[in-house]
Amino acid sequence: MSRLNPDNPDNPGSPDLPDSLPARPAYRPATVAVTAGRPTHAPDSPLNEPLTMASTYVAGGALEYGRYSNPTWSAFEEALGELEGGRCLAFGSGLAAVSTILDLVGLDGTVVAPRHAYLGSIGQVADLEARGRIRSQLVDITDTDAVVKACADASLVWLESPTNPALEVADLPPIVAAAHDAGAYVVVDNTFATPLLQQPLSSGADLVVHSATKFIAGHSDVVLGAIVTRDDQLFDVLKKRRDMIGAIPGTFETWLALRGLRTLHVRLERAQANAAELVRRLGDHAAVEEVRYPGFGAIISVVLAGGAIAADLLTHKTTLWVHATSLGGVESTFERRRRWKSEPATIPDGLVRMSVGIEDVDDLWSDLAGALDDLLTERPA
Ligand SMILES: Cc1ncc(COP(=O)(O)O)c(C=O)c1O
Repeated sequence: MSRLNPDNPDNPGSPDLPDSLPARPAYRPATVAVTAGRPTHAPDSPLNEPLTMASTYVAGGALEYGRYSNPTWSAFEEALGELEGGRCLAFGSGLAAVSTILDLVGLDGTVVAPRHAYLGSIGQVADLEARGRIRSQLVDITDTDAVVKACADASLVWLESPTNPALEVADLPPIVAAAHDAGAYVVVDNTFATPLLQQPLSSGADLVVHSATKFIAGHSDVVLGAIVTRDDQLFDVLKKRRDMIGAIPGTFETWLALRGLRTLHVRLERAQANAAELVRRLGDHAAVEEVRYPGFGAIISVVLAGGAIAADLLTHKTTLWVHATSLGGVESTFERRRRWKSEPATIPDGLVRMSVGIEDVDDLWSDLAGALDDLLTERPA
């Protein structure tokens, strides 16, 4: 039936509609980022999932209570889940997602984890071990043979690839195979790569975890986490844990993160191109001792020849680059990671982690190069 609005003569109405819509084709990632998690196309339905602020719902339906469900969370989860190739659950932060997974490890279970990884994640593993809940074995994830060997005793293999801030990359397929042979689950923190550059579930990982605070939301205005899995049983267990613990996302945060996710592919493409160019230029600068870059993504770590003092000076000398923790926003930020006491001592004192944004690369370079040049003239003899 044609839908004309009798109160608005300018409304052209719509033609007769079919009863059912065509099935959604298998889109490529950029199209998924733009289209997934939207309301179905119907006259007068909004293009974007609206912000549903509700602590409770009329009883008798699927939603029931605001700690269990929210349509705005679901829209974000549908989009990130489709990009990663699994079912997604959003959490109040990346670390809330991390602790919900670690909480599943049974008493005395062994967690194999990277010696370098986000300090909050390895800090949680260390804390659980100190309280006698689990055992841990820290590994160099670039040493595949050592990781494979460690998997024999594992209940859970925790991977972060690339690692924060060392930018080490794990060879997922052999590690996943060894972990599964031992009956262990494999988790990959995919925060740095994003599902556009790496889809760990398709390499056999059981769980993907995200600090959606970073590239997924992408504008340094949201703290949010997510877990994605293909395993329906694991999904149900994690959903139940989220319901019980209450590690739920804020509604507005999921709305903002979904809005950010819509442009992930264009943001990442630009930031990655900027990063590749900066890697080339940084490598030629005398103030830089080492440039670490895995060959993809928008995070670079540089080790400065002048150590911690030079690194601290650099982070206070620029005008465009902002000295700030966190990463993955449209704006370029950097930080000397060892300024945090809990960062492992094997991370060089003079390492500066750089989160490359989407600004003009020549502006980024001239700001950086000016500060690096100053380091050379100010360096103590
Ligand atoms: C790789 C990685 N995983 C997890 C987290 C924790 O996420 P959140 O800060 O959203 O709790 C971070 C935060 O920096 C991170 O860099």
